[in-house]
Amino acid sequence: MRKGRILSGMRPTGRLHLGNLLGALSNWVKLQDDYECFFAVVDWHALTTGYEDTSSIRENVREVVKDYLAAGIDPERSTVFLQSGVKEHAELHLLLSMITPLGWLERCPTYKDQLQQLAGRDITTYGFLGYPVLMASDILVYRADTVPVGEDQLPHLELSREIARRFNFLYAPVFPEPKALLNEVPTLVGTDGRKMSKSYGNTIQIASTEEEVRKSVQSMVTDPARIRKSDPGHPEVCTVYSYYKALAPQLAEVRDTECRNAGIGCVACKKQLADVVVEYLSPMWERRNAVEKDPGMVDALLEAGTSQARQVASATMEQVREAMKI
Ligand code: TRP
Ligand code: SF4
Repeated sequence: MRKGRILSGMRPTGRLHLGNLLGALSNWVKLQDDYECFFAVVDWHALTTGYEDTSSIRENVREVVKDYLAAGIDPERSTVFLQSGVKEHAELHLLLSMITPLGWLERCPTYKDQLQQLAGRDITTYGFLGYPVLMASDILVYRADTVPVGEDQLPHLELSREIARRFNFLYAPVFPEPKALLNEVPTLVGTDGRKMSKSYGNTIQIASTEEEVRKSVQSMVTDPARIRKSDPGHPEVCTVYSYYKALAPQLAEVRDTECRNAGIGCVACKKQLADVVVEYLSPMWERRNAVEKDPGMVDALLEAGTSQARQVASATMEQVREAMKI
């Protein structure tokens, strides 16, 4: 028996990195065993902040699908699809926009944050304010009950639940109230110790080469107070150590002791971390290479998934129109 239905998605803003992998994808891969899964590439959501330059969206969609497959998403078991290929999301978005009070959207903490953070871009648009309504539509159009997301998405999920409740109250109980499934893994920092983000250039991409991985690890910031190899180190402030903890918890314990006793130098410590990362990514590189060798595969797979998703979405929309007498 499946535990329920999952929907989650990522925006096609570029290749995915270790942060996406540990923070979300590796969790999705495990959930495939227990849930019926829908994994979207949400290209309409990419427009909310990046509507001016759309030149790389299509290419990015393919890269994201390759990274999904590389991570171990299995299209035989999970439905991998493109948001813009299922027009029902747009119809539901429009209908839900009619019942969503402006105040709910204006009060959303992510809305206020983003307006400040992206001050250089003009995102004072109708579409950007409606981001959570589109996200609610993504989830509700599949009547998904479980949504694996990071902590940053909790306000959006809360809004999805409120919108579902309001629809069910006004018309008929069509939608389950979707609950968040939080990933317990702490977020991985970038190689420079700041938040991992493409715009900081501090990521390790899933599609990196082995050489790139080794270079990134070599460049990682360590304990700044540790100057000589004979100085005892403080792993708790070291980026290298935080990667050990995320990728190889048992080895992390060994490194912790060695570092504090000045029993290992940072160069050797990094070298061994690079081996760990390479070993972790190797099976993904293999899968990604297999996909690269089969050029039509990504499009074909996406098309099949999208058509499967459309069937489910279209059945929900019949119920929605019926409930609303539209
Ligand atoms: N807002 C999500 C993010 O930025 C992406 C997203 C869009 C999503 N629609 C979704 C996630 C539906 C889960 C479910 O990460
Ligand atoms: Fe960091 Fe390893 Fe150097 Fe300790 S030995 S400071 S854990 S890189």
